Amino acid sequence: MTQAGSKGANGVPAPILEVRDLKVHFPVTKGAVLRRTIGHVKAVDGVSFSIAKGEVLGLVGESGCGKTTIARTILKLVEPSAGQILFDNQDLWTMDKAEELGYRRRVQAIFQDPYSSLNPRMSVREIVGEPYLIHESGLGRPEIDKRVRRLLEMCGLPGRMAERYPHEMSGGQRQRVGIARALALNPDLIVCDEAVSALDVSIQAQIINLLQDLKNDLGLTYLFIGHDLSVIKHLCDRVAVMYLGKVAETGDSEILFDEPLHPYTVALMEAIPVPDPETEAARAHQVLAGEIPSPLNPPSGCVFHTRCPFTVPLCRENVPQLEEIRPRHWAACSEVASGRVDPRAQQLAPPLSSTQFPSAGISVSPTGR
Ligand SMILES: Nc1ncnc2c1ncn2[C@@H]1O[C@H](COP(=O)(O)OP(=O)(O)OP(=O)(O)O)[C@@H](O)[C@H]1O
Ligand code: SF4
Ligand SMILES: [Mg+2]
Repeated sequence: MTQAGSKGANGVPAPILEVRDLKVHFPVTKGAVLRRTIGHVKAVDGVSFSIAKGEVLGLVGESGCGKTTIARTILKLVEPSAGQILFDNQDLWTMDKAEELGYRRRVQAIFQDPYSSLNPRMSVREIVGEPYLIHESGLGRPEIDKRVRRLLEMCGLPGRMAERYPHEMSGGQRQRVGIARALALNPDLIVCDEAVSALDVSIQAQIINLLQDLKNDLGLTYLFIGHDLSVIKHLCDRVAVMYLGKVAETGDSEILFDEPLHPYTVALMEAIPVPDPETEAARAHQVLAGEIPSPLNPPSGCVFHTRCPFTVPLCRENVPQLEEIRPRHWAACSEVASGRVDPRAQQLAPPLSSTQFPSAGISVSPTGR
């Protein structure tokens, strides 16, 4: 499946990153001496998407649906069980050493908790300058110091902060240091895994604006992982909604948020409270019932069938594939694809009873947090 953002032929930029039918299954072992595999956690189970140069793709879904595992696989910290990841058309797992070094320069990451991702024993100068010592070992100290100060200033920090240590900074300042470090080697793609989730709302807005400005000024491409749908909507050109290791729906951000197709996306959006109390009271909330099932033993057929208010017997057998239901808008739901269900218009059936599905009946937040 080729999705939006990957049309090289007709003027739209070709993808810088392509994830093709990616599977990451972690073995679960038993026994202290004779270890044997008793099952697999299907953290990522057949995910495909692409990101065009200069684009921001948002990855969203409840806790445990596989977002970080995808990020770690793109960063080559985890090996895929199957599938491919291509960067500039090159398979990440067929690169020679020089190509791999080049890849590690061109793809950087920003993580959720800047405090734990920054070495507390290193000064900001050492943290931000470290990539130069690894990748540009010929640079002298004065040049590195000059570059570090420039990077800090680009990220809204005074150059003198270079002498501070992470514990001497606020959370927002630390995240700016993390961004400065990610920018040091002039990357093309930055994987932002919950990069603003740990910050206060006002600081969050500042960091989002900074990420947006940097993207425009430097022509960056982001894979932006988050759980706050309003942040994703604000920042991302396209969105992929994940559920239990699979993409449930993907499309242009504006269209997907205005007219979601998949029952899971509709339920996620329904669960977002509206700030105005009167509007909020008037809204008919569909509570997403039950907990996300275990990826060790995912449900048969459509993995969402244990929580979906539209489940029909076929959903327990058939695995729905992503289908382009509207232009540039894909959903993996056989009932929506056939036109039998429109989750936004239809009166929702009551959630399945707990005797039908043992986990049903428990309310969760949109992100499971
Ligand atoms: N190294 C590992 N070994 C075994 N299971 C793992 C490993 N890493 C992740 N998992 C499991 O894979 C699933 C997906 O985890 P992942 O961290 O990718 O989810 P996530 O979507 O990033 O969640 P969150 O929103 O909480 O960050 C989870 O069930 C997790 O427990
Ligand atoms: S395929 Fe069936 S269970 Fe899955 S989302 Fe569609 S209606 Fe719900
Ligand atoms: Mg995560």
